[in-house]
Amino acid sequence: MLVPLKDIMQDAVRRRYAVGAFNTVNLEVTLAIVRAAVNLRSPVIVQISEKTIKYAELKPIADVIRTVSRHVGGDVPVALHFDHGRSFAAVRECVDAGFSSVHIDASEQPLENNIAATHQAVDYAHRAGVWVQGELGVIFGKEGLTKLRGVAAARQYLTDPAGVAEYLRATGVDTLAVSVGTLHGAFRGRERLDLPRISAIAKVAKVPLVLHGGSGVAPVQIRAAVRRGIRIINVDTELRIAFTQSLRRTLGKQRGQYDLRTYLGPATLAVQRVVEGKLKVFGSAGRAVSRSR
Ligand code: G3H
Ligand code: ZN
Repeated sequence: MLVPLKDIMQDAVRRRYAVGAFNTVNLEVTLAIVRAAVNLRSPVIVQISEKTIKYAELKPIADVIRTVSRHVGGDVPVALHFDHGRSFAAVRECVDAGFSSVHIDASEQPLENNIAATHQAVDYAHRAGVWVQGELGVIFGKEGLTKLRGVAAARQYLTDPAGVAEYLRATGVDTLAVSVGTLHGAFRGRERLDLPRISAIAKVAKVPLVLHGGSGVAPVQIRAAVRRGIRIINVDTELRIAFTQSLRRTLGKQRGQYDLRTYLGPATLAVQRVVEGKLKVFGSAGRAVSRSR
């Protein structure tokens, strides 16, 4: 069942666990995420990016998520989120399409522009009762790292705890994406969380903190981050890897196979298992309270 993000986050904040925000691109990945949430009775966030909107079109993919949440999700709370919106126009479209929350990512712009763009998004979204995620500090991926020439240089773009309170006051965002050592993509063993930085940010931030780049981060690090105040964790790459590896395996074994269901089925299940593993580590498994009681 689709719900406003606020409904999910109130319990996560009170009981100090993190909610997984998983990227989808189609029906199969959406089924995998929602089935995992149902299996483990966990709240979950299903999110799409601008690239996915280009690929699947906004209304069709939003409707896929909505209908899977209703017909497969049952009473498990699911939030529909727009991830890494770079423009006001894109954010506005998602608000108008009935999303639970939107992310305005102006983090690579100078601070003043980041604040102005984020404030504009908040102003619009709040009138529709939609939550907004802002981003302070920059989270890099493979491309950005190549430009920067390595992981070490990315550290100067980590979120400065000293600027957080003012950013929150000036923008009015409801959740905050922070740069605390993760990267977009699965860089196993190279992503080291700056745990004291998370604590310092959590001390001044009165909104749920969002950890991007959740793929490839060791469970022990994730658990420590949750203990220190991370309340939403984004995961994308690990789902894509699970899906693609499964497809390669099945198609490699069955070269004459043309029934899509025979290879999409196992790939969907592979994604579901990855999501289930994450929900356990994040501490959200078993937190979806039954509304029929
Ligand atoms: O916004 C999406 C994420 O931050 C996903 O990062 O691909 O490293 O899991 P990831
Ligand atoms: Zn991200």
